[in-house]
Amino acid sequence: MQLIDGKKISEEIKQEIAEEVKTIVANGGKRPHLAAILVGNDGGSETYVSHKVKDCEQVGFISTLIRFDDNVSEKDLTDKVIAINKDAEIDGLIVQLPLPKHISEQNIIETIDPLKDVDGFHPTNVGKMVIGLPTFVSATPYGIVELLKRYKIETAGKHCVVIGRSNIVGKPMSILLSQKGSMGDATVTLCHSRTKNIKEFTLQADILIAAIGSPEFVSADMVKDGAVVIDVGTTRIKSDKTKSGFKLTGDVKFEEVAPKCSYITPVPGGVGPMTRVSLLKNTLLAAKGKVG
Ligand SMILES: NC(=O)c1ccc[n+]([C@@H]2O[C@H](COP(=O)([O-])OP(=O)(O)OC[C@H]3O[C@@H](n4cnc5c(N)ncnc54)[C@H](OP(=O)(O)O)[C@@H]3O)[C@@H](O)[C@H]2O)c1
Repeated sequence: MQLIDGKKISEEIKQEIAEEVKTIVANGGKRPHLAAILVGNDGGSETYVSHKVKDCEQVGFISTLIRFDDNVSEKDLTDKVIAINKDAEIDGLIVQLPLPKHISEQNIIETIDPLKDVDGFHPTNVGKMVIGLPTFVSATPYGIVELLKRYKIETAGKHCVVIGRSNIVGKPMSILLSQKGSMGDATVTLCHSRTKNIKEFTLQADILIAAIGSPEFVSADMVKDGAVVIDVGTTRIKSDKTKSGFKLTGDVKFEEVAPKCSYITPVPGGVGPMTRVSLLKNTLLAAKGKVG
């Protein structure tokens, strides 16, 4: 069994991005600039955004964090998004989700200029991804494809089983793997909460991707010998063994599944760091005007 080290690969990619930024700046170009909007004070969202800002600093990007109280109106938030759309200094914009219930996330996503939508959530970008045009691909599936590529894990002709059909992980993952061409060409089965006898499908998987949010859902008896297992799940569960009082737990029972695998991602240190670095890759693409 080989552990897929997302942390190591993400550091390598950050290094590559930082080098490219240095070259751009040395040639008189402008530093890529990511703007992040954060509404309210949700602990998880605060952490995610602070990581994104730190990642930008690390590779030489400019970042701007714009905060709103959680009672901000949809109109005020929309106006800010429109202002950023028009701001030529800013290349990429993310609005950290979830938003307070009184604001339509879909309306906000659709207000972002698709050319600045580095999360890849705008319907225009999702549509482009589906038909294989250059676009911003949602960070988590983008990161997983990159991990498979860097570990030289063949997808062509393989049976990939994805558990979870969210718009940001499972669904785009299933589409990318079934795309014609490099890092695609797989036969894909997409499972979800209404799938009957899920084990029947997971046991067929050459590559199993679990994106459910149900801690340790995938047990050893659900996995074929020699499978590649990618664990997307990150659920914070209470623990008396950590300083924070929480432990990040994946969707896979790592201890019992790992010995059966050819490759497996750990949680943490697998998919998570690749999600973070994919946002940087998308921001660099936006700055270079390579999408659109
Ligand atoms: N590491 C990272 O960078 C990263 C990034 C994004 C998300 N995540 C984590 O990945 C997990 C999934 O995130 P998400 O945003 O995709 O979650 P989500 O929107 O809640 O979607 C979960 C999916 O899992 C399916 N599901 C739930 N229970 C199931 C069951 N018992 N059997 C089969 N399918 C089941 C749901 O089916 P239905 O559609 O039928 O409800 C849904 O499609 C979460 O733990 C999240 O924190 C990690």
